[in-house]
Amino acid sequence: MAKYLVEKNGPLRGEVAISGAKNAVLPILAATILAEGPCEILEVPALRDVDVMCRLLRGVGFHVEEYYEEGRILVEPRKLTTDEVPRDLVKKMRASFLAMGPLLAKAGQAMVAAPGGCTIGARPIDLHLKGFRALGATVDDGGDPISARADKLTAGKVYLDFPSVGATENIMMAATLAEGVTVIENAAEEPEIVDLANFLNKMGAKIKGAGTDTVRIEGVQALHGAKHAVIPDRIETGTFMVAAAITRGDVLIKNALPDHVKAVTAKLMECGVTVEDLEEGIRVRGDRGPLASTDIKTMPYPGFPTDMQSQFMALMTTVKGTSVIVEKVFENRYMHIGELNRMGAGIRIEGNNAVIPGEQRLHGAQVIATDLRAGAALVLAGLRAEGVTEVSEIYHIERGYADFIGKLQALGAKITKVED
Ligand code: EPZ
Repeated sequence: MAKYLVEKNGPLRGEVAISGAKNAVLPILAATILAEGPCEILEVPALRDVDVMCRLLRGVGFHVEEYYEEGRILVEPRKLTTDEVPRDLVKKMRASFLAMGPLLAKAGQAMVAAPGGCTIGARPIDLHLKGFRALGATVDDGGDPISARADKLTAGKVYLDFPSVGATENIMMAATLAEGVTVIENAAEEPEIVDLANFLNKMGAKIKGAGTDTVRIEGVQALHGAKHAVIPDRIETGTFMVAAAITRGDVLIKNALPDHVKAVTAKLMECGVTVEDLEEGIRVRGDRGPLASTDIKTMPYPGFPTDMQSQFMALMTTVKGTSVIVEKVFENRYMHIGELNRMGAGIRIEGNNAVIPGEQRLHGAQVIATDLRAGAALVLAGLRAEGVTEVSEIYHIERGYADFIGKLQALGAKITKVED
């Protein structure tokens, strides 16, 4: 298995360009199932998860061309050859479940393997299914695969008990072809929801309110093809902001949207990091004086993102003072604590709270990436730790970060990839 070897690093300096957002391009590719004509998606990151979604589209009969060097994917809809998403794809990538809403709307039925849980939580899909039922579908979730069918979807109103990103996306996509006006209440407000809605509206959908807690979708007869450039990845942006901070460096982050990283910016500035929104990008400096601790609680957007929790925790091990981090979105997203503690982080879990003592002298160790963001956090900690840190299970990282070590190396990081 491949590993990353990360050496203690001086300050990272230079420029990094952010790639397209993984969590925007995956639902947008799923949405092309709804199109009657060709779609061209731009700013696509070269990620394994994107390739898996392209395989899913080919699996239902579509023609897909991937041009990663140009960040471009062409999708040509063909007659659907199946309404079932192969189990191996769902097991490889949970986001394959986002094909269920589009298949149900386009084909009148869909069968998708239950995605199951992962290291960060049980990852239930009850809210997705609640939404499909609100649109008049008959859903059978008693077994595996899960099936949904409806001769014709009809608009409905659905309240999401939790503002689930995936459920909001799946229901929004299904509702584009449902008769009448569907209302999703307590909807997720993430930028990726807005990007998906913008793409769907370019295809002829009539969606209003994306980015707020109430989304209205007026059903239409059909959706045509469209061309769309995906938004930059706000979590990759936040990850490189923390990389600049943890190494006390000075990094210019290009092709990023400051509006999408307000919570991360605010918390970094509370610690003494300077963040400047310049014409050419976001300049992040961790070299303007000693950094201090702050507390964070992860929340749905626009709160502090759960996908930045582990990276920020790595930073808190290096600053003056104790910090408390509370994960409020997933029930088991502390797996990286054990790995950071192997590096000398001294983090304690008290109930749901992670207590980080700060100013720890981290040392290199053999650590395991337990999810893609935890893996990124371990790399960032390795940039600070004495000696060499060996990060394994890096496939997690490479599914969500395009050219992660190439971008870090360009900033001066001493990180290499070795095959075991
Ligand atoms: C999306 O996952 C992202 N993935 C995740 O990013 C991200 O962490 C998460 O949103 C939260 O922001 C993609 O977009 C592909 P949720 P998703 O449904 O949609 C509960 C990464 O690192 N819930 O908003 O699966 C669930 O248990 C990944 O890139 C239900 O109870 O997240 C969780 O506690 C990790 N019932 C909470 O909602 C449901 O039907 C948030 O989950 C669905 C969710």
